[in-house]
Parts: sequence; C-alpha cells; structure tokens
Amino acid sequence: MNFEEMNSLETLFDSDLKSSLPLPPELKSLYGSLSFPSHPGRPYIISNFVSTVDGVVSLDAHGKAVGDVISGSNQQDSMVMGLLRAVSDIVLVGAGTLRASPSHIWTPQYIYPPYAEVYAVLRKRMGKRPSPLNVIVSASGDLDLSLPVFQSETAPVIIVTTVLGVQQIKRKELSESVRIIEGSDTTTITARQILKAIETVSPSCDIILIEGGPHLIGDFFAVHCLDELFLTFAPQIAGRESASERLGLVAEKLFAPEHPVWGTLRSVKRSGSHLFLRYGFESAGVREQL
Ligand SMILES: NC(=O)c1ccc[n+]([C@@H]2O[C@H](COP(=O)([O-])OP(=O)(O)OC[C@H]3O[C@@H](n4cnc5c(N)ncnc54)[C@H](OP(=O)(O)O)[C@@H]3O)[C@@H](O)[C@H]2O)c1
Repeated sequence: MNFEEMNSLETLFDSDLKSSLPLPPELKSLYGSLSFPSHPGRPYIISNFVSTVDGVVSLDAHGKAVGDVISGSNQQDSMVMGLLRAVSDIVLVGAGTLRASPSHIWTPQYIYPPYAEVYAVLRKRMGKRPSPLNVIVSASGDLDLSLPVFQSETAPVIIVTTVLGVQQIKRKELSESVRIIEGSDTTTITARQILKAIETVSPSCDIILIEGGPHLIGDFFAVHCLDELFLTFAPQIAGRESASERLGLVAEKLFAPEHPVWGTLRSVKRSGSHLFLRYGFESAGVREQL
C-alpha cells in the first residue's frame, strides 16, 4: 500500500505522557505518538469501540450487525484498531461479538491488511509474539468450533467459560491449538475470574485489549477494571425503535445516577468528520482483581 493514500489523523488534544511506544514511522505519521501510563505489576486494560453519534454500537438488538456499518468502513478506524491490536498481548471478546463476526480473527493484519508488515515490525520492536492471544468469553460454551478463529492457527486462542460451557465444548471436536479454561463454576464469569484465567496462561502480559461487546465491557466497567476506552465516533445517527432497541456501549449494567462511571479525556483526534477519543478511567479495581 502506498502510505500516502491515507490521511493522517489530526491531533486536536493529547495529554502529555512521557514515554512513547516505538511506532514505525508509517504509523507515527498517521496516528501520532502512542503511550500508556506505567502500570507496574499488572496488565494495562484498554478497550476499543466505534459508536454512532447517537450512541449505537450495534444495529441489531440480537447482535448480528458488525462494526463496519457503524463506522462506515472508515479506513482510519480500521488502522487504529490494528494499531491497538498490534500493541496488545491479548485481545478479549465476548461470544456475542464472535457470533456477529464469525469469520473474524482478532489480529492487527486481519482488520487492516495493508499495514500487516508495519504492525509486525511494531510487535517485534515491543518484544511481542507475532499475534496477540485471542480470548473468547462464553458462559454457555455454545460456540461454532469450525470458525476460522478456532481453526486457522493464525493466533493462539483460549476460551474462558463455565463448568457447563466446558461440558458443552467437549462434546465437539476441538482443534489442538485451542485451550479451554474453566473460569467459573456458576453460570456467569466475573471480570475478576476472566483476568485470573488470563493470568494462568499469560502471567506477564502487559496490555489487554477488550473489543467488546457491550455485555462484556459492562462487566469490566462494573468492577472498575478498565484503564482506558478508545472510542471512535462515526458521524451518523442510527436511531432506535422502541420495539427493537439497539445496543449502546454498555448492556445490562446500570451505573448512573447511583454509581456513575466518569472518565478523563486523554486525547482527541480527527479524520474528516470521524472523531477518535480516548478516555482514562479510575481503575483501582485491576490490581485487587489479580
Ligand atoms: N461497535 C463496536 O465497536 C462493537 C464492538 C464489539 C461488538 N459490537 C457489536 O455488539 C453486538 C454484540 O453485543 P453483545 O453485548 O452480545 O456482545 P458480547 O459481550 O461480545 O457477547 C455477549 C455474550 O458473550 C458472552 N459473555 C460476555 N460477557 C460474559 C461474562 N462476563 N461471562 C460469561 N460470558 C460472557 C456470553 O456468551 P454465551 O451466550 O456464549 O454465554 C454472552 O451472551 C454485535 O452486533 C457486535 O457487532 C460492536
């Protein structure tokens, strides 16, 4: 790809973090610098979503529609998704997100193929393995194990599930490269249990990226286990019918007014009419979760 083809993001505001990640020049000129606060002894947990201006992240209440229709297939958004995957050790998604994008594999090159080599250089510079570990969270274990994420061996995969989920999965044929972890002996898995499960397979992981969906991210917000949200605002109004509510960023968790979750603006970037926002959150919970 000719790197000149994509317009750089314009930085409108950026909080001053001292150390920058070693982005290759192509990414640095498109995105600017990227850094995270120091987080000794624990992983730094970030998330990335795209939303319409009226707060819709999925066009279908049953989770069938994917991010492209929200972002308008915005190339810069895909590039940023790839960048965040490239700096992460783990990409975590719920089973609903997998069902909505059944052919997806959560690697940087999958979401933005033209920069595959640049992302690979970045991972190498950061001392990371070629692909982030893909972690799929499912209470039911009702997963189609023939999907590419489980079969392609492009990225290592673990499924974090419940005791019932393990039984469900073991009824099917499982590729040898996929590990199952029983994160809970009840019907749900808390964010703490998910992090514990990750720690057993990746004890020294540095950055965990949560790519949704709204149910999974709600569980992390609920226990103050998210350090930062990268949020792209796409300049469309999707609307809602009362009969078919469309998912917003968080599903089935209520915070305000009793327990509001406030963030701090870390950066604002722009490409055309798309806004790329970054919010930091009080994440006192992360250390005690581990
Ligand atoms: N716009 C964006 O940036 C963005 C990002 C991600 C997703 N989405 C969209 O969001 C929609 C899906 O929404 P969603 O809320 O259903 O996604 P989700 O959170 O990925 O999926 C929910 C499912 O994941 C499993 N799960 C999540 N948290 C769990 C927990 N703590 N413990 C156990 N299992 C857990 C459960 O799977 P089981 O049913 O197997 O038990 C649950 O039914 C899709 O349309 C997708 O395209 C949009």
